[in-house]
Amino acid sequence: MLSVTIPSSACLIIHTIVLELAYGRSNLGRRILLDGETVIGNSLAVMSPTSAKTPDLRKELFDLRGRIALVTGSSKGIGYTIAAALGSAGAIVVLNGREKARLAVARDDLAAQGLDVRVSPFDVTDPKQIGEAVEAIERDVGPINILVNNAGMQYRSAFQDFPLDAWRRLQATNVDSVFLVGQAVARKMILRRRGKIINVCSVQSELGRPNIAPYASTKGAVKMLTKGMAIDLGKFGIQVNGLGPGYFKTELTEALVNDQAFTDWLAGRTPAGRWGEVDELRGAAVFLASDASSFVNGHILYIDGGITASL
Ligand SMILES: NC(=O)c1ccc[n+]([C@@H]2O[C@H](COP(=O)([O-])OP(=O)(O)OC[C@H]3O[C@@H](n4cnc5c(N)ncnc54)[C@H](OP(=O)(O)O)[C@@H]3O)[C@@H](O)[C@H]2O)c1
Repeated sequence: MLSVTIPSSACLIIHTIVLELAYGRSNLGRRILLDGETVIGNSLAVMSPTSAKTPDLRKELFDLRGRIALVTGSSKGIGYTIAAALGSAGAIVVLNGREKARLAVARDDLAAQGLDVRVSPFDVTDPKQIGEAVEAIERDVGPINILVNNAGMQYRSAFQDFPLDAWRRLQATNVDSVFLVGQAVARKMILRRRGKIINVCSVQSELGRPNIAPYASTKGAVKMLTKGMAIDLGKFGIQVNGLGPGYFKTELTEALVNDQAFTDWLAGRTPAGRWGEVDELRGAAVFLASDASSFVNGHILYIDGGITASL
């Protein structure tokens, strides 16, 4: 077989033509091309995109090493899973919740898996605690590059019987938290001209259900807060997106998981035909926290087995 070495400039031009034909004028196509120098054979076939040295997209797009992620409400449930996912992608993870003992268990579990984990117990509804905690994390751990506003609660009752104090707790825990923690961290991110904020929404950001009107109102608010934050913070290099889980088995949904009639209804209502497993949120969380989503802003990514696509 004929073996020739083509000067890198010529190779780049040929490669560019081939890739432009194959992929159009995409940046990805351009980037893939910059590798090839030595070509075996002299036909265009060997110059195909698949033969160019493939860049490691996992590193280029999804690597979180060197980043610090604060995940609120991460002592259990969805927050814990998201924290584990970001940690597995390389981030130093700061766990949060109010109950210190449960936080310590979560920290030990993740540390045993080889992850770099810290804890920051504070109440996401308390501006003073939030301010002190954000300062302490930035001082003792480092700059918060990724914030996941996950902490949340549920309370079920018919609208006409809904207690006022439960309404207020829901609004404070699910909405005030996103505003307060988001604002405290965004002020730091603005100075650095860089950051990722993920607000945990819900299919209830779009759809109602019996007995949870106030919860749905909080998740609708988080969706619109996400879009507003994205608009105000985008010019500072900060992306703010929402992650909208469908129905996942956690303590928050325990009553529904134990209700066979609901589970049967859910299987019929969900195109995937089942409950979600919390691990199925990991990919979306890493995507929204990483450079892979550098031009995704103000978007709500629903991970719901297709619920929001169907009536
Ligand atoms: N599970 C689902 O199917 C589902 C679906 C859609 C959306 N979501 C959303 O996903 C998020 C997490 O839900 P989950 O099911 O994982 O809930 P979960 O299992 O009940 O966990 C809630 C977490 O939030 C923390 N938390 C609650 N209030 C807090 C406060 N005031 N300050 C600090 N931390 C607080 C809890 O720790 P402490 O109690 O120790 O503070 C815990 O770590 C919520 O925003 C929820 O609305 C869940």
